[in-house]
Amino acid sequence: MSSLSLPLPLPLFFTIFSLLFLAFSLAQQPSTPLLIPITKDHTTKQYTTTVSLKTPLKPTKLAIDLGFGFSWVNCDNTSYISSSYSHIPCNTNLCNSLHSLACSNCYEAPGPNCANDTCAMFPENSFAHTSEIDDAIIDVLAVSTAVNGRNPGSRLGVISDYLFSCSRSALLKGLAKGSSGVAGLGRSNFSIPAQVSSAFSDPFLFALCLSGSSSAPAEPYYFLPEIDLSKYLIYTPLILNPVGDTIITYYGYPSNEYFIGVTSVKVNGKQVPLNATLLTIDQETGFGGTKISTVDPYTVLQTSIYNAFTSMFTAEAAGLNLTVTKPVKPFKICYSADDVGNTRVGPAVPTIDLVLGSDDVFWRIFGANSMVRVARKNVDVWCLGFVDGGANPRTSIVIGGHQLEDNLLQFDVGNKRFGFSSSVLIHQTTCANFNFTVVKN
Ligand SMILES: *[C@@H]1O[C@H](CO)[C@@H](O)[C@H](O)[C@H]1NC(C)=O
Ligand SMILES: *[C@@H]1O[C@H](CO)[C@@H](O)[C@H](O)[C@H]1NC(C)=O
Ligand SMILES: *[C@@H]1O[C@H](CO)[C@@H](O)[C@H](O)[C@H]1NC(C)=O
Ligand SMILES: *[C@@H]1O[C@H](CO)[C@@H](O)[C@H](O)[C@H]1NC(C)=O
Ligand SMILES: *[C@@H]1O[C@H](CO)[C@@H](O)[C@H](O)[C@H]1NC(C)=O
Ligand SMILES: *[C@@H]1O[C@H](CO)[C@@H](O)[C@H](O)[C@H]1NC(C)=O
Repeated sequence: MSSLSLPLPLPLFFTIFSLLFLAFSLAQQPSTPLLIPITKDHTTKQYTTTVSLKTPLKPTKLAIDLGFGFSWVNCDNTSYISSSYSHIPCNTNLCNSLHSLACSNCYEAPGPNCANDTCAMFPENSFAHTSEIDDAIIDVLAVSTAVNGRNPGSRLGVISDYLFSCSRSALLKGLAKGSSGVAGLGRSNFSIPAQVSSAFSDPFLFALCLSGSSSAPAEPYYFLPEIDLSKYLIYTPLILNPVGDTIITYYGYPSNEYFIGVTSVKVNGKQVPLNATLLTIDQETGFGGTKISTVDPYTVLQTSIYNAFTSMFTAEAAGLNLTVTKPVKPFKICYSADDVGNTRVGPAVPTIDLVLGSDDVFWRIFGANSMVRVARKNVDVWCLGFVDGGANPRTSIVIGGHQLEDNLLQFDVGNKRFGFSSSVLIHQTTCANFNFTVVKN
């Protein structure tokens, strides 16, 4: 692993409760991380968070879309009741900075999603590939600060002018049950981390630690060994894709998604033969490259990469006496669970490295993140949790949710770098081990 030379601006404290978390740093030093609990919906495999919105504050569950530029919330008349929302008139600096492509008028009863001369946005449901036009609105957002053993004290981070888009109920179709919209964490100026950072004059930086635990750990809380994971972070540049990929194309605007520069893939240390062109982003079309996604549950590989990778993996696994068995959709490479040994970092299978520019900078994927257990009637297998994305996908490698779990990820947008830990399991901890005790106001 490469060593770190820069101090982390964000102190990371680990204790317990939630399944996953997002942490933002606040202005005071030493800062209390601002935390948003994240849970996994096992039906849809989506990650969701609950924020407080409106006046009076109301808990609002949102599905997380790491690469989307703004958040959107259902505003249908019966579901959006708040005394504090306001609209953004067209032709104002704020509306212009949103790159709004439309100005709305409305001939129904005035409401959050019905006003005249109002800045419009195009919220998208990336899970269902749907989009609509709705009004931008501003309302109160509150996120809790969690308390942790080493740094007691807590706050409620309140943003009185949080900007997002309305949606109608139809756009919710395909989101995890109970969701009222989407939390956009992308690199735009209007994502949640961007607005939180700007409201508290902090750098645009946040951490993400997803956990795949199927249920929230019950009381009593688990204590963690004193581990400061920040020293395990390795950094690689965050790459800008100059061509955005939204359903309603904001022509000429860059992508709000997070791309990193994977230059090769290794299995058990052996390089997978790949077409290098696929790993770079075409500056005119935006095709190619590697991005990180919370929308895809499993890593998606362009067909030629998928084929080269899976043949290398099966050959290396054969060296461990593992013989492929009947596949279980959507996977193609599965092994009988009885044949697979266990390690602290999951099933004993060949390691996978995503190499980032130089041989000593790599994201190592162990069995816990590469394999998916499928156990049902007459079937008990471990499958390689990667899927074939077809011959001509927009992005050649999309690192999906399962591969992100129990990896500490830091998106340092201000400094255009991405920090990753590889599996924290190797340090005898998990992303679920966070003390999420929240003290309200
Ligand atoms: C909500 O709006 C729909 C159409 O926009 C209308 O038919 C319905 O009566 C409204 N409901 C309430 C409670 O205002
Ligand atoms: C918008 O303006 C039109 C024309 O003046 C008016 O009929 C309509 O009620 C207005 N809509 C709202 C939501 O105020
Ligand atoms: C979590 O933090 C709260 C508040 O500081 C503290 O009372 C509690 O003991 C902590 N729990 C654990 C497991 O560290
Ligand atoms: C985001 O905000 C910064 C600072 O206000 C500004 O310089 C930049 O142009 C904005 N980015 C976009 C895409 O509008
Ligand atoms: C490599 O990929 C690029 C982009 O898809 C393609 O144009 C080129 O033909 C490929 N080269 C080979 C040798 O397959
Ligand atoms: C694989 O099986 C062979 C024959 O049974 C045995 O000699 C060898 O040690 C096994 N290798 C591993 C890695 O388990």
